[in-house]
Amino acid sequence: METLKRILTGDRPTGKLHLGHYIGSLQNRVKLQDEYQTFVMVADVQALTDNFDNPEKITQNILETTMDNLAVGLDPKKVTFFIQSQIPEIAELTVFFMNLVTHSQVLRNPTVKTEIVQKNFGESIPFGFVAYPISQAADILFLRASLVPVGDDQAPMLELADEIGKRFNRTYTTDVFPEVKGYYSNVGRLVGTDGNAKMSKSIGNAILLSDSEDEVIAKVKKMYTDPNRIRPTDPGKVEGNPVFIYHDTFNSNKDEVDELKQRYIKGQVGDVEVKEKLAKAINVFLEPIRERRKVYEQNPQLVVDILKEGTKKTKAEAEATMMIVKDAMGINYFEK
Ligand code: TRP
Repeated sequence: METLKRILTGDRPTGKLHLGHYIGSLQNRVKLQDEYQTFVMVADVQALTDNFDNPEKITQNILETTMDNLAVGLDPKKVTFFIQSQIPEIAELTVFFMNLVTHSQVLRNPTVKTEIVQKNFGESIPFGFVAYPISQAADILFLRASLVPVGDDQAPMLELADEIGKRFNRTYTTDVFPEVKGYYSNVGRLVGTDGNAKMSKSIGNAILLSDSEDEVIAKVKKMYTDPNRIRPTDPGKVEGNPVFIYHDTFNSNKDEVDELKQRYIKGQVGDVEVKEKLAKAINVFLEPIRERRKVYEQNPQLVVDILKEGTKKTKAEAEATMMIVKDAMGINYFEK
């Protein structure tokens, strides 16, 4: 089978997306959309694995997540947006994939292990949550996608998807599934405003793509800097300092950044000035994103239509893959 140049990626609709999502994945989606046939999935089924008792939270965030993707510059004429729950073939494929994975393979997933601790499940870990990586393999493979732009925390999921696809191909002597590869950010993970290794809305250390100018100013003002620096005349540390990490990432005026760093190291600038310039730079960066988002906020029906049309197109792809899958497995009893 010819290798399809296809991308599948997605987000759990549990909240608005932030600068960490932008650095980890969104900017790569935008960059790759011209080269690859790109599908972006709203992962509501996956989001339900730990929010099954609060489905409204998921429903409310479906449009927000999609708007964030559109706001950063994904072009709905090129990119297909769809909602996971509306493609039952993904669930069907998940069931077949469950046979190709061992119990211990599922339990050793480091990202799932970390999430189990973070989410305080205690003894009551939903089975659907533990098993979501299998469903994520189906998310990718039902479209026969080969490239997945995601944050590096998703690497174990993509490895599993690749293993499952290969195992399926071997078991049923077919080449229906391509090799799966991740496409990761070349600047690594963005730290939170508190200096925590990961920006996360639930930790409360995130700057949202949809934050207003004033919200950005307030969040930057509270940012963690060099804890050993008490007065503006104390020599400061630039490496590992979140404020300078953000300057390097979002401030396009490199001369200004270099000059601030020099003065900071020598104790010739206060945190207030460094932060004011940072807030300004982030606001310049977010301005076009806000402008594009506004169009959709004012007319949410546009977003509904994009999702509806994309889901319809995706459904046809799903049906085609399942025909091949069932043929390979020899279970297409009535399609002879
Ligand atoms: N697990 C991803 C996240 O938490 C979301 C997701 C679901 C996904 N299915 C996917 C990402 C398939 C890439 C491919 O962000």
